[in-house]
Amino acid sequence: MPNLTMEMSELDECKRQIRERILRPAEFRGFEEQRKNLLDLIRRAVRDGDSNSALLIGPAGSGKTTLVRSVLQEISKEKGFDKKALVVNLNGLIHTDDRLSLKSMSKQLKLENVIDEQVTGNFAENMALLLSTLNKADHEKALVFILEEVDLFCNHHNQSLLYNLFDLAHRNESSVFVLGVTVRLDVMDRMEKRVRSRFSYRSIYLLPANNAKNFESRVALCQEWLLSDPSKLDRTFCREWNKCVAALLAQNETGYNCIKRLYDMQNSEDSTKELLLHTISRLHEGNPTLSGQDFEKALDDVIADGWLQILDGLSVLELCLVIAMKHLGDVYQGDPVNFEMVYSRYLKFAKSHSGFEDCTRNTVIKAFEHLQALELILPAAGQGAKTQSQYQLYHFQLTPQQVKDAVKRYEELPTEVQQWAEISLV
Ligand SMILES: Nc1ncnc2c1ncn2[C@@H]1O[C@H](COP(=O)(O)OP(=O)(O)OP(=O)(O)O)[C@@H](O)[C@H]1O
Ligand SMILES: [Mg+2]
Repeated sequence: MPNLTMEMSELDECKRQIRERILRPAEFRGFEEQRKNLLDLIRRAVRDGDSNSALLIGPAGSGKTTLVRSVLQEISKEKGFDKKALVVNLNGLIHTDDRLSLKSMSKQLKLENVIDEQVTGNFAENMALLLSTLNKADHEKALVFILEEVDLFCNHHNQSLLYNLFDLAHRNESSVFVLGVTVRLDVMDRMEKRVRSRFSYRSIYLLPANNAKNFESRVALCQEWLLSDPSKLDRTFCREWNKCVAALLAQNETGYNCIKRLYDMQNSEDSTKELLLHTISRLHEGNPTLSGQDFEKALDDVIADGWLQILDGLSVLELCLVIAMKHLGDVYQGDPVNFEMVYSRYLKFAKSHSGFEDCTRNTVIKAFEHLQALELILPAAGQGAKTQSQYQLYHFQLTPQQVKDAVKRYEELPTEVQQWAEISLV
């Protein structure tokens, strides 16, 4: 008879090892040409003193940050790197104006005392001040600027930071490399002409192919993460575990199909990782064997989490329409609804709360169309093309619990809206 305690500790240990494999920072894989390109550019700045600028462009989760980290790691191992380069990291999400960027730059260059709380003067003057204050040893080093979410620096006043950093690289008086990292393919259009005139027009693209070969390597990666190592765990346990994994990930089996369904929706590696983490977290004493159902349930969870992110981004009005549809769903037991039904329920709420500012019909129509674009509502089948848009029927895609969770998470939601979501109409 199998020893359950022993098996449990094996299962826990196996889960721990899988989590560790999935979560540890990955070595950068693939995109050899792009990697070499970036490596050469940084090397040329650090080793040969050649200034340059470049953009690294690719969709979210395509590995841009991992690539930069991997290239910097490789170069930093080269002899004398510390004596030859200073790396400054800025992020458009954090450094939302030039003052914050300057403060962070001075800190990273270990010149905190130069730029103090009261940053005055223009960016160029401050930048010049910083550079002139660098000590003699640092003065000779190449400066490598990594600007994550670089498109957001286009929103800074006069795009001064971008202009000055690109200009510094363009002038090539000291050794400077500026790398802008972004998901936005149109980032160049957002730059002012004078900023573009200082940019090198070098772009490195990370565009993962969405094809069968790429998917098969994703499944292979999943195998690598999920298979247990007999040298680190009980052999019998490993044999059984690995048999399960291999069977579930075989072509067209449940695990394989779940990975594929998510991949077709969002092909980033992070979402595959999330699916596997949810899958293994379903295993416990009462459910010790990995099954297709674990994959299916985990897929539902991951997709539901995706909804939560979408719901967090809604406006108050859009969330009100979502609540109205939840109530309609309670009353009509999931039958499809049309705009007029949703609108009248929303009006009834808005009118009965004097403090609540109701919106014009046109604004509500726009909000409803946005929910449609987000696929929170999907057209019901079998409607004639002639049905007027306000009577088109839609199926609401969320469960009442998902709506309640979204309302709870929403920051600064008026109290009356919160209460409206809680009331039960049936
Ligand atoms: N080519 C790759 N090699 C190794 N890991 C990768 C690769 N592509 C993606 N990943 C993995 O995918 C995840 C996301 O990667 P990363 O953060 O580098 O993407 P990103 O392009 O910087 O995304 P974002 O635009 O959201 O900042 C990480 O867990 C990373 O390990
Ligand atoms: Mg990134």
